[in-house]
Amino acid sequence: MDHFDYRGDDLFCEGVSLARIAEELGTPTYVYSQATLKRHYGVFDKALAAVPHLICFSVKANSNGAVLRTLARMGAGADIVSGGELMRALRAGIPASRIVFSGVGKREDEIAAALKQKILLFNVESTSELRTIARVAEELQCKAPVALRVNPDVDPGTHPYIATGLRKSKFGIPLHHAREVYEQALGFSSLEVRGIDCHIGSQLTSVGPLVESVGHVVELAQDLLARGVNLSYLDIGGGLGIRYSDETPPTPDDYGAAVVTLLKQFGQLPLTVITEPGRVIAGNAGVLLTRVLYRKSNEQKEFLVVDAAMNDLLRPSLYGSFHGIQPVRRPGERVELELVDVVGPVCESGDFLAQERPMPPVAEGALLAVMSAGAYGWSMSSNYNSRLRAAEVLVSEDRHALVRCREEVADLWRHERDAPWL
Ligand code: LLP
Repeated sequence: MDHFDYRGDDLFCEGVSLARIAEELGTPTYVYSQATLKRHYGVFDKALAAVPHLICFSVKANSNGAVLRTLARMGAGADIVSGGELMRALRAGIPASRIVFSGVGKREDEIAAALKQKILLFNVESTSELRTIARVAEELQCKAPVALRVNPDVDPGTHPYIATGLRKSKFGIPLHHAREVYEQALGFSSLEVRGIDCHIGSQLTSVGPLVESVGHVVELAQDLLARGVNLSYLDIGGGLGIRYSDETPPTPDDYGAAVVTLLKQFGQLPLTVITEPGRVIAGNAGVLLTRVLYRKSNEQKEFLVVDAAMNDLLRPSLYGSFHGIQPVRRPGERVELELVDVVGPVCESGDFLAQERPMPPVAEGALLAVMSAGAYGWSMSSNYNSRLRAAEVLVSEDRHALVRCREEVADLWRHERDAPWL
């Protein structure tokens, strides 16, 4: 459920009309509903109420400070993958004691920063990384809290670019090597082995693969506990899918129930469950507001050229993803739909937000809302074609605030320097 609805013929985010936001702040602009963010977080939290748990929002999905602060106030932790995300999470008020650090390529300076802040866990993805973390911790004369990210070789049935738990993927430590690597980890006096972790992929639309992978990991956890390894955390990753068009992903309740049932089969385990949801919290809490610049057609196609492009929302171009597109001003009833390509100004044929999409007729100058853009939208945006990255707005009931200004032209070369010989 989200809070983007028509009131009369105008599309609103909670109590604020999207047309008003566009008038005031221009386009393209991301608009987030705080009520939706809170609702999704609350539902997810409740779904796991039967087990001790910590929800670490995956910052890569949406790293805006106002979004993070909203979740921080609800008690969320953070799943981070870089030093930048670490500082964003801390700045938004997420305590270090609720931050887990994942990712295959953690740099030494990032490891050191996270150790100094005393984060909860490093999810370690290789033996080389394990050695590096141990060395950096030794240099800093502290103990690094670690979990091993295990790759259970389970097919999550999602787009290949976002499937991470297959044997062939770069992520995690193969399940059958994990015991050996735990032995190695236990041999470092500067490491404190605290947990076990897995994440098999994103936009998962059935609970089966998740349950299968968690099953493998819990089995391993049980075995390690029996051998006296002091595990306290079972991180089951993120990945729960959302509805972009006609998918029927499990609800957080289905997901929570499946996880709880599985864990209960293993009896009383002294483990706090960590989850790392991103999309399911933020995806349907945001839209990308854009204006139609031109209509054009050729013998084959009808195009709506809009002022948002692949640099603003990369998902359709990169994964062929579907995002619903709704007119901000609803057309009258019984209009005939036309098939259009919604394209941006970027000079690539891969620059589209929708292809051959049935839409009501939309005039030049009209506003459109690209739906379900709250996760992996702004956070994947770029300056390609020297386009200014979009503004971001947070809505709460009938209030709205600009929570990131649209970039200015001078931002484009702020970090460039002249070569002395030019
Ligand atoms: N934990 C780890 C270790 C991850 O790698 C990810 C996502 C998550 C948690 C959060 O997954 P979520 O709950 O959001 O599915 N750019 C792609 C998605 C990439 C996901 C990368 N990892 C997209 O736009 O679909």
